[in-house]
Amino acid sequence: MRAQVIKKFMEVFQHEQKTVCFSPGRINLIGEHTDYNEGFVMPAAINLGIYMALAANDLSICRVYSIDFEEEFTFHLEALAPKKGHWATYIMGIISQLQQAGYPVKSFDMVFGGDLPIGAGLSSSAALECAAGFGLSQLFKFDIPKHSLIHYAQKAENLFAGVQCGVMDQFASVMGKKDHVIRLDCRDLSFDYFPLNLEHYQLLLVDTQVKHSLADSAYNSRRFDCAEVVLLAQQNQVGITSLRDLKLKHLDEIVPFIEEEVLGRGIYVIEENERVMEASEALKEGNLIKVGELMYASHLGLSDKYGVSCPELDFLVEFTKPLDAILGSRMMGGGFGGCTINIIRNDFQEEFQRIITSAYDHRFMKSPKFYQVRLEEGTRLI
Ligand code: GLA
Repeated sequence: MRAQVIKKFMEVFQHEQKTVCFSPGRINLIGEHTDYNEGFVMPAAINLGIYMALAANDLSICRVYSIDFEEEFTFHLEALAPKKGHWATYIMGIISQLQQAGYPVKSFDMVFGGDLPIGAGLSSSAALECAAGFGLSQLFKFDIPKHSLIHYAQKAENLFAGVQCGVMDQFASVMGKKDHVIRLDCRDLSFDYFPLNLEHYQLLLVDTQVKHSLADSAYNSRRFDCAEVVLLAQQNQVGITSLRDLKLKHLDEIVPFIEEEVLGRGIYVIEENERVMEASEALKEGNLIKVGELMYASHLGLSDKYGVSCPELDFLVEFTKPLDAILGSRMMGGGFGGCTINIIRNDFQEEFQRIITSAYDHRFMKSPKFYQVRLEEGTRLI
C-alpha cells in the first residue's frame, strides 16, 4: 500500500511526495458507548488503516486524491465547509481545527488509500482524520502533540461530520501499541496499556455487510437519552456530571420519572463501565474465558438495553454461543451494522468461516466478510 500511494502521487500530481504516513483503524475489546459518558473503553489500533502521501504545492488550492474512490477533490483553505457524506469532509474538518488552533496550513497535494473497510465500524473516518492531521503536522513541521491531534480529530468529526462521537476512535488510532489494548478513562484521558496475550486464540472480525442509514441519528439520540438520565439523577445527588458518576442504586430514585427505555440506557452504561474494569483484571490474570463472558454480557446489554444492535449482529453473536472454540463475541462500535469482534481458537478459524457463512447466507441472503486483525502501533511515519 505504501508503494501504491507513492506511485499514485507521482501519477496524479507529477511531483514527488515529501511525507508518507499511516493511521490505523481500531477494534474495541469492550466498553461500548461509554466514551461520551466519561466512562471506560478498551480499544486498540490494528494492522489495517489508511496510507497517505503528501507534499506542499505552489497553487492556491489543495488537491486530494482518494485511491479507493478513484476521485480527486480540490478545495481552498479559506473556504472549508462540510460536504455531507463525502470523504473530503473529514480532511477539511481537521484542517479547520488546525487553522483555529493557529497552525498555518498551506496548500498541498495528498493521496490516500488503504485496506480498512469503510463503514464496517473500524473507524475509517477517525483513521482518515488522524492521518491527515498527523501528515500535515509532519509536512509543515508543526509538531502537534498527540493529545492535541486526538482532540482536533474528534472535533472534526463533531463539527464537520456532525456525529457527536466520543474520543475513543481517535485516541486508539493515534495511541495504539503493538499487541496491547488501551484501557482509557474518557473523563481525563488517563490510560494504561494491557498486553493481549491470545496464545492459541486470535481476534476475528465478522462483518455483517450492513450499514444502517439511521446509525448517525440514533447515535446522537442515545446521547440525549444518557443526558436525560444524568439530569434526573442530579436532582437527587450532588456532584453528578455524567453517567460515570452513577451507581445502579442511584437510579432507583428516578424510576418513577423516566421512561423504561431511557432508564435502560443508563443501566447499560453503568454496567458496561464495570465490565471494562473487570476485563482489565481478567487480562492481568490471563483469564481469557472471563474476558469472553464479559464480551457476551456487553453484547446483551447493547442489544436489549441500549438498543444499538440489529438482527444481523445478534445472529452472528448468537451463532457463536454454543461453540467451545469461541470465547467471546459482541457487536463492536456504534452499532446497527458493522462487525462483531470474536476471540476464536486458531485451529477453528477456517471451519468457523465456512459454517457461519453458510448459516448467515441462509438467513439473510448475503455473505459476511472476515478480517483477522493484529494489534499494532498507532499513527506514524512510514
Ligand atoms: C463510534 C464512536 C465512538 C464510540 C463508539 C461506541 O465508534 O465514534 O466515539 O462512541 O461508536 O462505543
